[in-house]
Amino acid sequence: MTQKKSSRTSHRNRTQMIHGKSATKSWEFSRHLIPPITSATTFRLDSLERGAQGFMSFAGGSSDDPILIYDRLDEPNTMMLEESLAIMEGTECAVAFASGMGAISSAILSCTRAGQKVLAHRTLYGCTYSLLNDWLPRFGIENTFIDMNSAEHRQLLEDPKVRVLYFESVSNPNLELADLQRIMADVNKANKKRKDENRIIVIVDNTFATPWALRPAEYGVDLVVESLTKNISGFGTEMGGAVMGARAFERSLKLARKDFGAILNPKGAWQILVHGIPTLAVRYQQQQATALKVAKWLGKQPRVESVVYPGLKSHPQHALAKKMLRSPEGEFASGTMISFTLKGDMKKCQRFVDHVAKNAYSVTLAVSLGVTKTLIEVPGFMTHSAIPSEKQSSSGIDARAIRLSLGLEHADDIIADLQAAMAKI
Ligand SMILES: Cc1ncc(COP(=O)(O)O)c(C=O)c1O
Repeated sequence: MTQKKSSRTSHRNRTQMIHGKSATKSWEFSRHLIPPITSATTFRLDSLERGAQGFMSFAGGSSDDPILIYDRLDEPNTMMLEESLAIMEGTECAVAFASGMGAISSAILSCTRAGQKVLAHRTLYGCTYSLLNDWLPRFGIENTFIDMNSAEHRQLLEDPKVRVLYFESVSNPNLELADLQRIMADVNKANKKRKDENRIIVIVDNTFATPWALRPAEYGVDLVVESLTKNISGFGTEMGGAVMGARAFERSLKLARKDFGAILNPKGAWQILVHGIPTLAVRYQQQQATALKVAKWLGKQPRVESVVYPGLKSHPQHALAKKMLRSPEGEFASGTMISFTLKGDMKKCQRFVDHVAKNAYSVTLAVSLGVTKTLIEVPGFMTHSAIPSEKQSSSGIDARAIRLSLGLEHADDIIADLQAAMAKI
């Protein structure tokens, strides 16, 4: 595709998210405003030599003439999506996967081997916890869960077995922030004592923040993981995941994708590229404004015990949130997620949520997050139920906590639906 006259990088992120790379090596479609969707599992090769070259050069870094072979290796929609994701995160490259878990498992597996250890924050999305706790030990990859907000990790970073430090920039479900500057200073110090091939690799799940609110690569983390299923795809229609980082990681990530097979389907990649990314900024800003209004309202309700939202002064890390969660345009980006608890026992929580499920028009009891519709759930019994109940409190999870993902409805309608349910408990 031909290069437009003005340079992409002189434009704001918001504009780049709409136009992507005006010249892509991934596909020739110079007359299309919107990239056409391709759907072909395999590609025509003009000679055996070109076929052999394609297999040789696959995952070998950026090429001026990528040879497309088979969808599980590379395909044009996914490649264009990856270009846009790398722009948003400010990384050299991105590799897209079938789901957030496809991205997380491939990122961790491509950096570790038997005998090594993953040091992880104690609060993680439930399936990430079960990946680390139930699956990786079967392959000899150990784990230790720690509180990254204490100084606990400093000493543990000295353990030569530790190869990966893994955490969520804003944790699911309790909206705890990881202080990236402080953590990276500690990791860099520990890495000075290690050979390059043994250095600690930092992997950060940035799903709650999205690159609109935080770009962890700016702090020097090695790999950023996103579940594209959430705010980035945004409409609740696609599943996807991605890992972003330096070009040096691209090969092993693509090889992991090829052999474990967690490929994003081309139609999903196209939807995320054409509908999700270009609308992320406006959706995020609107949903965030609603989240702030709802969080403030919740904070004033006599039946509410606590509200956790990074945009509230009462958030224990509000100052850090104001520093770290910034849109590319410099505004405080406090997010689209709230966690709150009601006064009373689990029965009260259940009565409230059931009332919402049965009666609320604007709020739906459903897992997932970051989509156009407001969703409510109880992580301890749903998304985080893979963490055994006796371990939940040491993982920072209160069984009674309710998670709210704000959508695009009118804030007052959401408040009215929550108020109606609160009156019934
Ligand atoms: C923080 C976080 N990371 C990763 C995932 C996994 O993403 P996916 O459902 O796309 O596999 C989720 C899913 O809820 C999540 O909340």
